Amino acid sequence: GPATIPVTLQINGQQHALQLEPRVTLLDALREHIGLFGTKKGCDRGQCGACTVLVDGRRINSCLTLAVMQQGAAIVTVEGLANGEALHPVQAAFIERDAFQCGYCTPGQICSAVGLINEVDKGAPSAATPDVRSMRIALNDAEIRERMSGNLCRCGAYPNIVAAVNDVAGKRSGGKA
Ligand code: FES
Repeated sequence: GPATIPVTLQINGQQHALQLEPRVTLLDALREHIGLFGTKKGCDRGQCGACTVLVDGRRINSCLTLAVMQQGAAIVTVEGLANGEALHPVQAAFIERDAFQCGYCTPGQICSAVGLINEVDKGAPSAATPDVRSMRIALNDAEIRERMSGNLCRCGAYPNIVAAVNDVAGKRSGGKA
């Protein structure tokens, strides 16, 4: 078969030494070579967001980047968001708000929401920000919907997704903190 090259990826704080064909996407490296199936393959061409992961704190579609290009970067997948037994605040909010139906888009939605929060919080550039609840940011629902527009949900759970993101990234008027 085609020649492979050594590629080392740092994923959820762990180094993974792989032998990959140069054209393997980060998404396929995660799923097929490392066995991390939380990151989903929807369209495989940058249009659905199901494959969203965090690279150095920024959300990207992992189907659109080659694994070999991400050597040296800190990659975080949905599997790496929880802190031991404690869910990431965004994960907890998705459960609290019933922000999924079939669940297929959910890992991408959650990673995207974490990336969104990193984007609006100037003081927390890292994907590994442990407690986003302490951040002083406020987005309204329309802004959240816009910033989450790269993540499609075929079930149409958008109101619940926005509510979940708002619980963490927004400022609820008259609601809980
Ligand atoms: Fe990557 Fe759809 S699978 S954007």
